[in-house]
Amino acid sequence: MENRLEILRDEIDKMVLNEKSEHIRMYISHMYGVARFCTLLAMKRNLNVELAATCGMLHDIFYMSGSSSENHAAKGAEQAETILRAIGLYSDDEIKIITTAISRHSDKNRIHEPYDELLKDADVMDHCLYNPAFPIAKKEIERYRKLLIEFQINEIK
Ligand SMILES: [Fe+2]
Repeated sequence: MENRLEILRDEIDKMVLNEKSEHIRMYISHMYGVARFCTLLAMKRNLNVELAATCGMLHDIFYMSGSSSENHAAKGAEQAETILRAIGLYSDDEIKIITTAISRHSDKNRIHEPYDELLKDADVMDHCLYNPAFPIAKKEIERYRKLLIEFQINEIK
């Protein structure tokens, strides 16, 4: 049986691994880190784990595939739609959920729909847990604290 997430990952490989960016280790680490946190959050919040992981894999595709990081959420949503349509295994409803979450993921101060919030939170978790010795960014501290409460984890002192 075909596994859409692995088919998607093969497509993403073709776009990201060819990049000669010096940030490639960060890109791959972040993409897979966010995808895994999306899965974890979907399990916790009773959302669809595969859709969630797909949001994570594609959320930063715009700059990871060689374009600038400016306005990468909106542009990445368009690019994600093109990729998902080309694969041909995703319904219109699924594409809408995924691209909406990607388009909103930089808007961390606002509260949107469940998959939008899941992706923002997974993005924050990956930033905050990349290296526990690094300070938490001011703009992410509120979401980070809420996530610790959701998972009943004490903040590192
Ligand atoms: Fe990100």
